[in-house]
This record gives sequence, C-alpha cells and structure tokens, in this order.
Amino acid sequence: MDIKGRVVIVTGASSGIGEATAREFGRQGAKVVLAARRLDKLHALAQEIKGMGSGAETLVVQADLSKLEDIQSLVAQTLEKFMRIDILVNNAGFGRLDWLENLDPVKDIQAQMDVNVMGVIQTTRQVLPLMIKQRSGSIINMCSMAGLVGTPTYTIYAASKHAVHGFSEALRREAKPWGIDVSLIYPGGVVTEFTRHAGIKRKTRAATPKFMLLTAEQVGQAVVKLARRPRRMWIIPWLWSVTAFMNKFMPGFVDYTTITRFTIPEREDELKRN
Ligand SMILES: NC(=O)c1ccc[n+]([C@@H]2O[C@H](COP(=O)([O-])OP(=O)(O)OC[C@H]3O[C@@H](n4cnc5c(N)ncnc54)[C@H](OP(=O)(O)O)[C@@H]3O)[C@@H](O)[C@H]2O)c1
Repeated sequence: MDIKGRVVIVTGASSGIGEATAREFGRQGAKVVLAARRLDKLHALAQEIKGMGSGAETLVVQADLSKLEDIQSLVAQTLEKFMRIDILVNNAGFGRLDWLENLDPVKDIQAQMDVNVMGVIQTTRQVLPLMIKQRSGSIINMCSMAGLVGTPTYTIYAASKHAVHGFSEALRREAKPWGIDVSLIYPGGVVTEFTRHAGIKRKTRAATPKFMLLTAEQVGQAVVKLARRPRRMWIIPWLWSVTAFMNKFMPGFVDYTTITRFTIPEREDELKRN
C-alpha cells in the first residue's frame, strides 16, 4: 500500500510509540488522525507534521479510548473531514506492573482492561463497517511480548495483550475476504513514558537488556512498514522469538527460571514473614 494520501487513525498519538508512528505516517504524506487525551501534545505534533512539507494533513481528536462515545466521535470526526479510513493503528494502552493483590481493582485492573482491550475492540468495531464497505483496509494492533509470554507482575497487562492477540487472530480470519488485513506487532521493551506510568518496583535489577531495548521511532517505522505490507505477526527485536518459542514448547523450564530467578528473590522478605 502506498501511504501518501491514505487516511490513518493512530490512537495514543500523544507520546511514545503512537507519537512516533503518527510522525512517520506524516513524513510519508498520509492524512493522519491523532487521538489521545492530551490535546496540547496532539496539537504540537499536528503542527510538526504540517511543517514537514510532505503534503500530510492532520486532524486532532481528543478521545478517552475507554469511552464508547469518544470512540464513536473519533470515527465520526474522521469521516467528516476525510470521508474514508484506510488504516487503523490501535496503539493506546498502558500497564500497571505489580503483584496482583497490590493492584487497585478499578484504577489499575479495570482501567487497563478498558483501554488495552475494550478500547481496541470498540474502535475496531466502529471502523470495520466502513472498511467492509470500501472492500479494503489495514488494521494494526499494538500487542507486546506480554501478549505471548506471561511474567510475574504483568498479570493484568499480559491478560490484556493476550486478549488483543486472540481478538486480532480471529478478526484476521473474518476480515480478509473483504480485503481487510489485520497485523499484530509484538515489541519487547521500548523507551517511552510507559515505564513511568507502570509503577515498577524491583529489588532484583531484572529489566530488558539494553541491547534489546527499542526506541519509539524504531517501532513507529515498523508499524508504517506493516501498513505498506501487512504481516500476521511481527516480534521485534527478533531475538524475543526465542523466548516466545521456549515459553510455548518448554513452559516448565520458563516457569522454573522465572520463579527461582525473579519471583522468589523479589518476594523473599514477604515469604519469610508469612
Ligand atoms: N513501552 C514498551 O515497552 C511497550 C512494549 C510493548 C508494547 N507497548 C504498547 O505500546 C503502546 C504505546 O505505549 P508507549 O510505550 O508508547 O507508552 P506511552 O508513551 O505511555 O504512550 C501511551 C499512549 O496511550 C495513550 N492512552 C493511554 N490511556 C488512554 C486513554 N484512556 N485514552 C486515550 N489514549 C490513552 C496515551 O495518551 P494520553 O495519556 O494523552 O491519553 C499515550 O499517547 C501501548 O499499547 C503499550 O502497551 C509498549
């Protein structure tokens, strides 16, 4: 697919991967709809994209992706301005990473599922009939390695991304006859605001090795590549495929190493106390 002139909705375009993705679509001359809650950030990005001289156009829409009425308004405003939707990037999301019993039932658990799962489903549900009518479209869903491998403190986040994985796989098989492609991208660690919002507290220094960390720009470029040439799934960097493979075919080994290297050392004090 040639990106120039295509109408693209990017959710979560106010920072990190979504911002980098929207910027890359802008660079390639797309008509980019920027959606998130922080209007100031979206307007600043829209100005930047307009100044690129690529012929890109922008539309800023303030939307809380956990609210159906905001999603409906996002799609309605897009159609009013651009009359069609070629590409949907369901990117908005966040993680709260702590032991399950420490997570707030509403602010952490419900909220994550509302944005990461229901946001993706409801946005897609609003856009799909148009793509069916057009007999074309590309839907790109931001998954995560947590959508393939569940790790301690990632219970809800992993549940949400596993849901995105299952939803996208089923939809891919539903939508293809209408000329609609559904792609999934699974980044490992990416340097964004994500970590700041995640509330990570670690005694062990367990973290993504530096050489495996990606920039938001690298993921943004990968998303635009998926729009050009859809793929069922793309794990980046590719080395994480080894982890996904081991988790699938050697789950006992992954359980053992995770529990002994991470869970027990992290919870040593609590385990001794009880
Ligand atoms: N960083 C990583 O290591 C990593 C790895 C794999 C996958 N991911 C996934 O990549 C996506 C983007 O994350 P990021 O790393 O770029 O983090 P980020 O910089 O924190 O960006 C998150 C984006 O989501 C938006 N968002 C959050 N809640 C929202 C809501 N209720 N309504 C509308 N927008 C909302 C935020 O915008 P507002 O706050 O302005 O609304 C922001 O634009 C997420 O789906 C995340 O799960 C991240």
